[in-house]
Amino acid sequence: MERSVATARRRPTPRVAGPGSRARGPPRTSKTYHAGGWRRAASSLRGGLASALRAVSQEKGGSMTESEVSHQVDVDLGDRSYPIYIGENLLDRGDLLRKHIPGKQVLIVTNETIAPIYLERVTRVIREADPALQVESVVLPDGEQHKNTEVLMKVWDRAMELRFNRKATFVALGGGVIGDMTGFAASAFQRGVHFIQVPTTVMAMVDSSVGGKTGVNHPLGKNMIGAFYQPNCVLIDTLALRSLPNRETASGVSEIIKYGLIWDADLFKWLEENIDSLVDSGKPEFGEAIASAVERSCLIKAAVVAQDEREGGIRAFLNLGHTFGHAVETFSGYGTYLHGEAVGVGLAMAADLSARLGWITEDIRDRAIALVQRCDLPTRPPKDMTPDDFIQLMAVDKKNVDGSLRLVLLRGELGTCVVTSEFENAKLMDTLNEYCEALG
Ligand SMILES: NC(=O)c1ccc[n+]([C@@H]2O[C@H](COP(=O)([O-])OP(=O)(O)OC[C@H]3O[C@@H](n4cnc5c(N)ncnc54)[C@H](O)[C@@H]3O)[C@@H](O)[C@H]2O)c1
Ligand SMILES: [Zn+2]
Repeated sequence: MERSVATARRRPTPRVAGPGSRARGPPRTSKTYHAGGWRRAASSLRGGLASALRAVSQEKGGSMTESEVSHQVDVDLGDRSYPIYIGENLLDRGDLLRKHIPGKQVLIVTNETIAPIYLERVTRVIREADPALQVESVVLPDGEQHKNTEVLMKVWDRAMELRFNRKATFVALGGGVIGDMTGFAASAFQRGVHFIQVPTTVMAMVDSSVGGKTGVNHPLGKNMIGAFYQPNCVLIDTLALRSLPNRETASGVSEIIKYGLIWDADLFKWLEENIDSLVDSGKPEFGEAIASAVERSCLIKAAVVAQDEREGGIRAFLNLGHTFGHAVETFSGYGTYLHGEAVGVGLAMAADLSARLGWITEDIRDRAIALVQRCDLPTRPPKDMTPDDFIQLMAVDKKNVDGSLRLVLLRGELGTCVVTSEFENAKLMDTLNEYCEALG
């Protein structure tokens, strides 16, 4: 079996032999990366990421030992570095989890939808890996509307009742909501306990479980209360996506489209050819296609985070579509739009504005919007949302600096973007007027 270990400091490696097979994976030869967005992005990053992306992975010779996995991406953050393990049936790999549990106490945090499917299995494999561990769990209500401080308290209540100590490990078993909440709970419990991400949605696998952004929503703004807090490892079992509803899968794919748009033209083109296999888990090609897309996305996210952990610079690129999207989520009430659906609207609006500014061609705008639509994701905000609602809600966005609205916008060839507050406001108003049916 192919054994690859890619470090986010290095150029990603092909995982699936790609050429000629449409559903098998984004093109992954190093030539492709040189010719594509990686190179342009790297050259605009003045050194750091350029060297980070330079060479490829190490092919491990010989056969794998018991404790190895076939695909691993390392997030390089000095003494806070950690591996992302990617593969099938990794939920059975208690040994891998055990390696990242320093103390004796484990609290698995999950929700009432995921618990009946995966909680018993994960609890059992950790216990089997080390019978001396105390493995407990807490089951939260399911949904974005429960991503708040009140529900978060249930995690701390459970850990306090159990008298967990500072060496405890919290394991997030679920999607982005569980991951964000568990990470934040871990960051604050006794000023910081260990934390492991076991993502079970596409969204969490390609985005939220990697990079250490954790937190909860405030009624006035999405993800406004939180902390940067890195996990000890991320364990991705792509077979866990078999039980995920297709609507949720599509929501996560919107973030993969985002990576293509901001960073990786080859990924974007691959998505144009393979999107139908990615959004329907009933298709035979789904497994391999999604595994490739997950790994490619993790490489991009890990590379960006390794370069800019706390969003002082390029990490902001990852927010393409999110300023518009967060406004949609806050306006419509948490849970009405899935996060990735709101991002779909945001990607369309950001592409529209970029084209109005003359920063991208109409062709790129149309291709971006078409790809979002092919996932059955919305590209327009709720009917009753006005331009003024957008202006008000976007004003609280964390990306804003000194009172001026900062946006991530596409600029130049496919796969390149900028983060800026220097754009013509009239063009923004044109986009808002075009997209909002209610003029308020
Ligand atoms: N921290 C970050 O960097 C970051 C990045 C992107 C998104 N996010 C956050 O992530 C959240 C969205 O995450 P999400 O899209 O994963 O939503 P989610 O966590 O609500 O999960 C979606 C739904 O799928 C269910 N589910 C999860 N795994 C399943 C499985 N394998 N089988 C069946 N059902 C399953 C969940 O119970 C839920 O109902 C948002 O709150 C967003 O702000 C954070
Ligand atoms: Zn997002």
